[in-house]
Amino acid sequence: MNLRDCHNFHDFRRLAERRLPGPIFNYIDGAADDEVTYRRNTKAFEDCDLVPNVLRGVEQVDLSVEVMGQKLALPVYCSPTALQRLFHHQGERAVAAAAAKYGTMFGVSSLGTVSLEELRKAHDTPQVYQFYFHRDRGLNRAMMQRAKDAGVQVMMLTVDSITGGNRERDLRTGFSIPFRLTLAGMLQFAIKPRWGLEYITHERFKLPQLDEHIDMSGGALSIGRYFTEMLDPSMNWDDVAEMVRSWNGQFCLKGIVSADDARRAAEIGCTGIVISNHGGRQLDGSRASFDQLAEIVDAVGDRIDVLMDGGVQRGSHVLKALSVGAKAVGLGRYYLYPLAAAGQAGVERALGMMRTEIERDMKLMGCTSVSQLSRDNLRFR
Ligand code: LAC
Repeated sequence: MNLRDCHNFHDFRRLAERRLPGPIFNYIDGAADDEVTYRRNTKAFEDCDLVPNVLRGVEQVDLSVEVMGQKLALPVYCSPTALQRLFHHQGERAVAAAAAKYGTMFGVSSLGTVSLEELRKAHDTPQVYQFYFHRDRGLNRAMMQRAKDAGVQVMMLTVDSITGGNRERDLRTGFSIPFRLTLAGMLQFAIKPRWGLEYITHERFKLPQLDEHIDMSGGALSIGRYFTEMLDPSMNWDDVAEMVRSWNGQFCLKGIVSADDARRAAEIGCTGIVISNHGGRQLDGSRASFDQLAEIVDAVGDRIDVLMDGGVQRGSHVLKALSVGAKAVGLGRYYLYPLAAAGQAGVERALGMMRTEIERDMKLMGCTSVSQLSRDNLRFR
């Protein structure tokens, strides 16, 4: 199986599974507890049907949208995700280049493995910087200032990770950075020598957004420990309101599920929110993003941009979210498996497939622009 055999999300997932050592694949593929929310995220789209219109003259289709002041050629963007150079040695460089090729926004994570400055210089497509709120307020201020100096367009504060989710697959394999694995986890690395060779022959693993602030030399830092020890569980709306004021630009909260929280986000001056349950990786049993979308669009859609992520695998999923009222849809595992499978070529192929699917489905729906999609096009079961 190779890149040419990949025609959808599932094919890329299988190829990624073949290429990656088990602990890394399971870090991407896994979620919290029983992974109920993870499964429901995609399943939610299947409980809603599209109702197409025909004979509307659909030769030219415009897929562009405007989100938090940024013009995107596609209604999907690459959500910020952590540790990308572990998945493929090109890491964030590949994802940013592929996003730029398709004219869409990409996110850089606080736990990213390429610096936000380097990525900002390499492309002029809009960049989101994903930010966690640390106990160390000086660190928070320094990180915001760095992002501002680099010319980042959108600040995105993740609010659903105030403590680490219970990722049982990672507990079993011992996944952490740098690696400190269980014996079973180590064996998994031994049987994927190609990944190992690429990893050791490329630049040393770093977290350039945080390196100055975390000392990893003394041992492994698990994602769970990072969340639990470094992030500030006392973070509240007043803290965030202050951040919004000091950023003084496009500011978005990622990880909103309740309509009340969406209203508060609008009240404190956020310009956007991402309805998200972190790909089911934090609170298992939390409602699927798509299931919450209509209520939140009704609550705040006229004041701020409502985005969503979670479970998106198909162009038709994107169309459903846009029809309910999302301004754009974030992709996570959708591009991470292709990254792991084939680097930049993989991500480009996946984004190309997504563009083709959205365009085809828009034509089949009888719509020539995203603004023509509405709830009239949907029926919930
Ligand atoms: C995760 C964090 C790092 O889901 O976003 O693993």
